[in-house]
Amino acid sequence: MSSTLSFPRNFVWGVATAATQIEGAASADGKGPSVWDTFARRPGRILNGDTPETACDHYRRYPQDIALMRSLGVKHYRLSLAWPRIYPAGDGSLNPRGLDHYSRLIDALLEAGITPWVTLFHWDLPQALEDRGGWRSRVTVDAFATYADTVVRHLGDRVKHWITLNEIRCFTVLAYAPGGDKAPGGKEPPAVINQMYHHALVCHGHAVRAVREHGRRGARVGLTDNSEICVPVTETAADITAARRWFAQRNIHLLDPIYRGAYAPAYLRACGANRPRVSRGDFDLIGLPTDFLGLNVYNAKFVRAGSRGAPETLPMPSHYPRTDSPWHDLTPQALYWGPRFVHELYRPKALYITENGCGYDDEPVVKGEVFDLHRREFLRSYLRELHRAVGDGVPVRGYFLWSLMDNFEWQDGYTRRFGIVHVDYRSQKRTPKLSARWYARVMHENRLV
Ligand code: FCB
Repeated sequence: MSSTLSFPRNFVWGVATAATQIEGAASADGKGPSVWDTFARRPGRILNGDTPETACDHYRRYPQDIALMRSLGVKHYRLSLAWPRIYPAGDGSLNPRGLDHYSRLIDALLEAGITPWVTLFHWDLPQALEDRGGWRSRVTVDAFATYADTVVRHLGDRVKHWITLNEIRCFTVLAYAPGGDKAPGGKEPPAVINQMYHHALVCHGHAVRAVREHGRRGARVGLTDNSEICVPVTETAADITAARRWFAQRNIHLLDPIYRGAYAPAYLRACGANRPRVSRGDFDLIGLPTDFLGLNVYNAKFVRAGSRGAPETLPMPSHYPRTDSPWHDLTPQALYWGPRFVHELYRPKALYITENGCGYDDEPVVKGEVFDLHRREFLRSYLRELHRAVGDGVPVRGYFLWSLMDNFEWQDGYTRRFGIVHVDYRSQKRTPKLSARWYARVMHENRLV
């Protein structure tokens, strides 16, 4: 690799979305409500009282959106399926119209020369399952196993790339623990949250099993995790070692079971009486070999070696640059150290950055254009660090930009725009931003421009 910042041949460049955030049609064709549909109706939960009811109307406009992707030269597209479209009540009767919709969508993508990367679960738990205990309950695990089997049986002849779950933390601890801001909301104590992680891990295992049992030959599957990432504040050996330790401690509960087939003794010790209950056979599923790990990378904490080398996190100075998402600082080094630490600690066969991007409020279209130079700079700085990781031998094989278009950003509603394509929510008009033109060139030339 040279100073032109080229990426290796066959590097996968793509864009990502998720069902709830773009589809709309929240009750069309027999779809059941998800926890996000319900949550959005509760006053004060979502900025401006926004709901996912209409979103980008992608459910109906997908042919145009595929044409748009094609015009940008997109070759890989990460999307998610809405579980409550397929099983409106989570389990029980199947809704063929939901499945047919995704079947048509996959066909249309393949026809356009776009490879689908399908996420089975991106937070939209059927409300009916939540009413029966949601992630607290094994009922959800059994229902998910059936859902995964059904989906892979129906779409597995065409879909080669599967992602089991998106960001376990976000639909467990950030959704059910005090202070969480995601659906369905709750005030569950640590014992329940640890049990939810466990249920989610078993679901991940079921999805891997379903792909192996019903998928096509050579189908690939992996989890997408939002590992907590840290950056050594200086790249000295002591700070790097401290940061690696911090990374290991913060991610042990999710990555150890997947890569080592058991909970780490240190994790169980830390849980004490709150340790999860494990059923026979759980680790046979959780530890099934996967083909890659997906990482969603946005943010990082700075860490240094404190007394006796113990990791010490540093507060962010108030003048540190950040996006309009209060949780999201400009920490491009996350895209170097995150993949590197995962690689050093767990050696996944391959890594994909399944999301990376930035959200800003109010990006108006002026004379048909959106000059999101800030987004281009943001992405460029992150991709430079990714290039460094690849150059240092970290097996990152691809990158998906979040997001193709502005969409329903969960608790932040439609205010925060992450798209490289602008969406006018009144007219549903799509306008590629400057960043879309730039990223189209990056994908096409396979290098940072
Ligand atoms: C991630 C989510 C994704 C999107 C981005 C901004 O945590 O997976 O759906 O909302 O954040």
